[in-house]
Amino acid sequence: MYEIVFSPTGGTKKVADLLCGGIAENCGIVDLCDRKMEQENRTFTAEDICLFAVPCFGGRVPDLAAQRIRRMKGNHAKAILVVVIGNRAYDDALIELRDLAEEAGFVPVAAVCGNAEHSIMRQFGSGRPDAQDVKELNTYASRIKELLRRESFGELQVPGNRPYKNYGGLPMKPSASSQCTKCGKCAKECPSGAIKEERPDTTDKDKCITCMRCVAVCPTGARALNKVMLGAAGMAMKKACSERKKNELYLAK
Ligand SMILES: Cc1cc2nc3c(=O)[nH]c(=O)nc-3n(C[C@H](O)[C@H](O)[C@H](O)COP(=O)(O)O)c2cc1C
Repeated sequence: MYEIVFSPTGGTKKVADLLCGGIAENCGIVDLCDRKMEQENRTFTAEDICLFAVPCFGGRVPDLAAQRIRRMKGNHAKAILVVVIGNRAYDDALIELRDLAEEAGFVPVAAVCGNAEHSIMRQFGSGRPDAQDVKELNTYASRIKELLRRESFGELQVPGNRPYKNYGGLPMKPSASSQCTKCGKCAKECPSGAIKEERPDTTDKDKCITCMRCVAVCPTGARALNKVMLGAAGMAMKKACSERKKNELYLAK
């Protein structure tokens, strides 16, 4: 089994680890945040089980993750699709992830919507996945494990629409304060290559996807979004993000 995960700030990985742990004893990790994945062509076989886990960005699969999945060859490997949200909604992300897996030659057998903290506005989904999520995800893992015993699989239906929702990124981009020691950790870990190793105190705004990884990994807390814009975004999203959102499981017919 493989866990193929795009998790800039770790929330998606928490959900993916919980599911994988309940399905298989050993799981190879494929890190879609690693910039090497821009060039890699991973090939799987019909015996493999691949759990794809991505966060929802603007109701869609993050474009970088989609590009890296498109380079893979499934050869009928079974796919479990996981979209993790920050307590708003996944809109078309689950159907898009299913389409991506199918187009790359995988056989989608199960899909999960999981919840984690909102990586931009941490007040939403705060503390998730929590004890209740762990319980639900364990149950989902058992049901998926049971399903995988089957010899053949019908269609996997998931909510979502085509054409997918438009998402062109956010205008907010993290910047570095004077607390930046130029250690270069953010530049090394940025999934989109928006931070140059020789100038870690700057951000290429065209390349940045506001995934928040640099903010999460900075050892001195020097990287942040503009506080005024962040506050306004928090107010605007309050209604949509406050009520606890459910986890969901879909199985192939
Ligand atoms: C640019 C961006 C857009 C996001 N859009 C959504 C969204 O449409 N719906 C939602 O519920 N959460 C949204 N989130 C929250 C993330 O999907 C959520 O926090 C996820 O767990 C982050 O994954 P990570 O911790 O692995 O980076 C967004 C986060 C970012 C950074």
